Amino acid sequence: MPNRKATAIACSNIAFIKYWGNRDDALRLPANPSLSLNLGDLYTTTTVAFDKGLEKDEVTIDDRPADEATRARVSGHLDLVRQRAGHHTAGRVVSRNNFPAGAGIASSASGFAALTVAACAAAGLELAEAELSALARRGSGSASRSVPGGYTEWVMGKGNATSFARSVAPPDHWGLRDVVVIVSREHKVVGSSRGHGLAVGSRLHMSRVAAAPAMLAACKRALLARDLEAMGTLIEQDAVMMHAVMMTSRPPLYYWLPATMAVIKAAQGWRAAGLPVYFTIDAGPNVHLICEAARATEVETRARGLPGVLDVLVSRPGGAARLVEEHLF
Ligand code: DP6
Repeated sequence: MPNRKATAIACSNIAFIKYWGNRDDALRLPANPSLSLNLGDLYTTTTVAFDKGLEKDEVTIDDRPADEATRARVSGHLDLVRQRAGHHTAGRVVSRNNFPAGAGIASSASGFAALTVAACAAAGLELAEAELSALARRGSGSASRSVPGGYTEWVMGKGNATSFARSVAPPDHWGLRDVVVIVSREHKVVGSSRGHGLAVGSRLHMSRVAAAPAMLAACKRALLARDLEAMGTLIEQDAVMMHAVMMTSRPPLYYWLPATMAVIKAAQGWRAAGLPVYFTIDAGPNVHLICEAARATEVETRARGLPGVLDVLVSRPGGAARLVEEHLF
């Protein structure tokens, strides 16, 4: 196997219908399908080189050596690529996020999508988009949705090969904005991977899972029709249902802070006064406000004025994960 290097860029994404809970934890086969928007302004760039001179995989993230747990997770993912390519060479991985560390933006989606695309190219594998998405899923479930472009749907599938994401609309289908309201930069105590495992302990989980396909179908219809009111209502419902599952799992997970609730209340007030904006929240306290491009500056300015808000990031829709010529080392 020749020493080869490849670099990929992948966007983060925000889910409108969330992935929470697995039917198979080891394979990351989700309990429900999910739907999201790639965030073109929040992305990860990753270079991978397989190098016979290395004894073990080396991982650098944002100019620092990764901690051992992260290194092992990345290394486990490289193992899947190596198995597929039929070689055993260790790799060097250098990854950089364009969003500030600790901004509460999940880097696992963009990170594992970029890692998958770069590692496969460096290993000389030529995979179709669906195969890359299914492989990215093994590293982090939401990463499957950052492989295709624009608005994407992760179908549950029947097994490993059929559980992948595909694009349902290109980035320019609808000029939505994600106005990310940061109320905490602290590292979460319970990460998503552990959280998924706790979901089954909540009596509400099965009820959310049962409702998810119909919620997703309705959300997709609203998305394709560019109906913000219909879609926004559904994304808020699903986010709150997911957090209700989290709060009722054992042990319970409370990701919300008082400032989270303050942003929700403010957004509801703005909406009542005629500003079309809807919220969603991932496994953390920060609030994503979804609105149309024409209202994004107003939403951002208002959000910056709320007590407890540390920062606000705004992102446009983003494209598919892609290889680039410029390497990080
Ligand atoms: C709340 O994809 O981060 O953001 O597969 O363990 O890496 P792992 O989990 P992850 O879970 C995402 C959870 C979520 C909802 C979503 O993005 O769909």
